[in-house]
Amino acid sequence: MRSIICFIGVFLCLRTTASDSSAICELKDVPGNRNDWIVLQEMSLGCWTNFTSQDGKEVHILKLLSSPGKQVMSELFLTAASPSAVIITSSSTQNILLHENPAVNIYVTNGTSIRFFVPTGGSPQPQIAPFADSDSEVLKWAAETFGGVTSFTTARDPMKITFTGMKGAQRPSTCALQPETPVDKQVIDLKLTRSSDELKSCYTKHSEEPLHVINIPDDVKIRNVSLHLPSKSKVILRGPAGTEWTINDPKDVQLISNNRIVLNGFALDKNRMISDDPREIRQNVLLYYNSTSITSYSEIHLNVPHIQLWIRDSMSSSVSAEVEHTTPAPSSSSVPLQMELFSSPDYRLPLDPSSKVQSDKRVYAEISSESYGDISLSIKVSSCWVRSMPVVRKMPFKEEACYTEDCPKRLSFSFEMLQDLPSSSWDLECAVKLCHDSKKFCTNETQVKRSLQINPYIPNPNPCFEFGLSAVLGIAFGGFLIGVLLTGALWFIKIRTGHPVALGMRSTAAELSVLSISGCPCGLTKRQPVPTHPSPSENSSANASIGSTQSTPTSSMA
Ligand SMILES: *[C@@H]1O[C@H](CO)[C@@H](O)[C@H](O)[C@H]1NC(C)=O
Ligand SMILES: *[C@@H]1O[C@H](CO)[C@@H](O)[C@H](O)[C@H]1NC(C)=O
Ligand SMILES: *[C@@H]1O[C@H](CO)[C@@H](O)[C@H](O)[C@H]1NC(C)=O
Ligand SMILES: *[C@@H]1O[C@H](CO)[C@@H](O)[C@H](O)[C@H]1NC(C)=O
Ligand SMILES: *[C@@H]1O[C@H](CO)[C@@H](O)[C@H](O)[C@H]1NC(C)=O
Repeated sequence: MRSIICFIGVFLCLRTTASDSSAICELKDVPGNRNDWIVLQEMSLGCWTNFTSQDGKEVHILKLLSSPGKQVMSELFLTAASPSAVIITSSSTQNILLHENPAVNIYVTNGTSIRFFVPTGGSPQPQIAPFADSDSEVLKWAAETFGGVTSFTTARDPMKITFTGMKGAQRPSTCALQPETPVDKQVIDLKLTRSSDELKSCYTKHSEEPLHVINIPDDVKIRNVSLHLPSKSKVILRGPAGTEWTINDPKDVQLISNNRIVLNGFALDKNRMISDDPREIRQNVLLYYNSTSITSYSEIHLNVPHIQLWIRDSMSSSVSAEVEHTTPAPSSSSVPLQMELFSSPDYRLPLDPSSKVQSDKRVYAEISSESYGDISLSIKVSSCWVRSMPVVRKMPFKEEACYTEDCPKRLSFSFEMLQDLPSSSWDLECAVKLCHDSKKFCTNETQVKRSLQINPYIPNPNPCFEFGLSAVLGIAFGGFLIGVLLTGALWFIKIRTGHPVALGMRSTAAELSVLSISGCPCGLTKRQPVPTHPSPSENSSANASIGSTQSTPTSSMA
């Protein structure tokens, strides 16, 4: 009986290990935390400046951390350091093999337990700094005591810490803590002891369309991930609840995640559940990318709050170290948005920017953003305006329906209000926001802009096309009849009084011209638009065309 239970136990155990990653591929440890596709770095709080005190001393703070169950002997090299004060703080007992420098004064915060070993014998007597509960307290004490701080470095399980001395760098003057990888810190050289099982990965070397899967299992403490992606990548980012992935300057990438993603400062929250089981992740790959080929699958087992990950470009996977050193500052640019103009409501034919639009024609605009995989984003337009220096006019817009999936924002405009303005080149601009999750999270307002050429049209008074031929003929005949009747009446007056009624005749002509304007003076063909000053030309052409209707009675009168 016992052997059966034992056998079942072993069987279950085998089953669980087998399901671990083999659903995707067989994971291997990644020593040095880098392979052809991925680079993993721990990020910790730190800073460095070019501060030196008035008596020429640098001020360095070292915060030492130990992983649970790890007792390392750290080697601290001060021999090459510039004259300085080095303040060491730690909440755990540290063993330090010290390479002294008489120009360096060592301080240890009260409550920090350090066992110093000196290769040449003797035992150093570090000075005691006050107990500090937090990083900011140590920084504050150092700034008050020495006038400033040159560097603050957090080192977990350090193997070797070497102060190299400052070489006149251009640096900020105050040490403001921020997540960093100490790699690019000039004053200090850090070698940390790293176990090789922090990153596990399996991958194919080449891939047409790289698709990378990153899985942080639920028992890992990572909460913040700064991620660098090459353009055109597809990724699945899976982490424990509460993980936040920060991606700056993503270019043409597609993302699937169960966590919050911050794209250029714009937070996108995901409600999708993806467990850390590789089988479920694989299903998501199938479902959302319609693909079974996964270029790389990586599991991260590093128990720190903040990491940085680099996915390398397939084209330049030989490019290594130097690109990964600096943590680029978050770019101020937000998610890119653009506007495209169309001449018809089917949004098929983009408007050629050099072609001229008649101001009575509607122009159709489509505002779209870069898409990031399955993240649904909506665009909110708050206002639009047209600008042709120095004229700026608010531009009313109408929202157009859109039936495609993943619909951009569609608007239409009428430029009739620009009719009387002399300029023909206009910039059409709209203030837009990108929102996610039913407008709960929106970016700051940004502007999209397009230039276009607008041609004034003649506000064509010609209603002929609204009248049928018979109506036109009717009106013409009516006019003729009135003319005949008037002529008859005048004729009658002349016969009775003996002289012609010149004044009355003129007013009749004016009445006739009113009639012709509202009637149909222009025949059945459309008149050519006269390009400028529509109002006077409209009158004169109307008058000119009256001539024919009028001619019979007038000439007979004269
Ligand atoms: C260190 O802290 C202890 C208790 O908090 C205090 O009694 C002692 O005076 C402190 N030592 C120094 C040098 O400040
Ligand atoms: C420190 O860097 C600043 C620029 O950030 C520069 O103006 C200043 O001269 C530098 N100071 C020293 C001592 O090198
Ligand atoms: C998924 O892939 C299959 C074959 O590779 C293809 O026929 C199908 O159109 C794809 N579906 C989508 C939604 O891309
Ligand atoms: C993670 O990032 C958030 C927002 O940027 C920040 O508030 C939080 O302190 C960070 N946590 C860690 C452990 O760095
Ligand atoms: C949005 O605007 C506010 C105030 O104008 C500014 O403080 C904030 O940094 C902006 N956010 C982004 C992501 O640009």
